[in-house]
Amino acid sequence: MTAHLATTYRRIDHRDHTAFLTTATVAGVSSVLATGNVVLAPRAVGVCRSDLREISGIRFGRRDFGHEIIGSILDCTPALANLRGRTVVFDPHPKLAHRTSGFAELVELTGDSNQLRAALVPVPAGLPDRVAVFAEPLACAVHCATRLHTATADLALSPETTIAVFGAGMAGTLISTVLTATGHRSVLLNPSSPRIEFLRSRRAMPSGVLDSHQHCPPFQRIVVATAAATPQVLATCLDMLADDGLLLIFAGTRPGDRLDTIDIDRLRRTEDLHELSRSSGRYHLAGSHGATRADFHTALKLLQQAPDAGWSPSLCVERLTTQVLGLDAAADYLTANAARGGLGKTIVQIRPPIPPES
Ligand SMILES: NC(=O)c1ccc[n+]([C@@H]2O[C@H](COP(=O)([O-])OP(=O)(O)OC[C@H]3O[C@@H](n4cnc5c(N)ncnc54)[C@H](OP(=O)(O)O)[C@@H]3O)[C@@H](O)[C@H]2O)c1
Repeated sequence: MTAHLATTYRRIDHRDHTAFLTTATVAGVSSVLATGNVVLAPRAVGVCRSDLREISGIRFGRRDFGHEIIGSILDCTPALANLRGRTVVFDPHPKLAHRTSGFAELVELTGDSNQLRAALVPVPAGLPDRVAVFAEPLACAVHCATRLHTATADLALSPETTIAVFGAGMAGTLISTVLTATGHRSVLLNPSSPRIEFLRSRRAMPSGVLDSHQHCPPFQRIVVATAAATPQVLATCLDMLADDGLLLIFAGTRPGDRLDTIDIDRLRRTEDLHELSRSSGRYHLAGSHGATRADFHTALKLLQQAPDAGWSPSLCVERLTTQVLGLDAAADYLTANAARGGLGKTIVQIRPPIPPES
């Protein structure tokens, strides 16, 4: 590690359902053999529903508080020297030995240098921070769209039919964004109307995607992207699914969740494909989980796509951003919203964006 590194920094941690701003010290780094270290200086960090779930103590599986990060690499282990100073987005999927909260002036990452390299995705020059900060959730949406296309091909379904995306939160909206940007017809549906009204009022999606009257069930393919794959949500989706149709589960699941005899938590996490036979018909269930490096590259490319008819993925994500908070205000915001979430994306701005080169 180089000598110029600041040793203390401000960071939001959480305990007992409360997020709080604290001061931390960069840990000593060179003493642990076989591990490497990176210190990331975030400029902007998106608030994800899973961050709120971590505060509420109802997140299952991964722990990565503050993972939608764009920032620059302040310092790193010699094996990653070529990344020093680079602007990157963080990929939370490669397994690291340790990481600190992303809602912070500095983020300390510790792990095998190959895993650290895998977790840091360089961002193309010129992409504004307020857009690039969406790379991680968009990469998960890209992964889901790719899973949909492979399952469609495996089941010999028609790739031309309208895809219904059930759940118009950030996840469902970004899945519809990927489908729209790659030339696939989709309709975004939601259990209640305020989210659709929100998307309409902000012109976040082309109007056809929000017009459920244009696309009537049964659908041959449905992606479920609600906060939870509850029995009620699944029943609603199956009611809209055509016989022999595909239901792709992206929505939150937890250990033990089942649909009839199928363990849907396992199905989602292993990205499996199962047949479901009911008196109403025969269906196919598939899962989508996580994102790969290739998904990040596709997401970053989509965020660079030029607008067509007044819409593009980058315009969409900018229109989805409802507020930008500093680190001081963010802890109270995270605590207050932990239980209920909200509409649109909140971004925590930690450092000013780097101005585009003239
Ligand atoms: N597969 C993956 O790799 C992956 C990656 C990222 C996220 N996810 C999952 O995607 C889910 C959605 O993320 P998001 O950011 O869009 O979250 P979100 O904004 O909280 O989701 C809102 C959506 O969930 C519905 N909803 C809210 N509370 C619900 C409840 N208790 N039960 C059922 N539905 C409920 C909302 O309907 P109303 O508007 O009617 O309230 C709306 O459709 C997350 O929970 C996460 O587990 C999966």
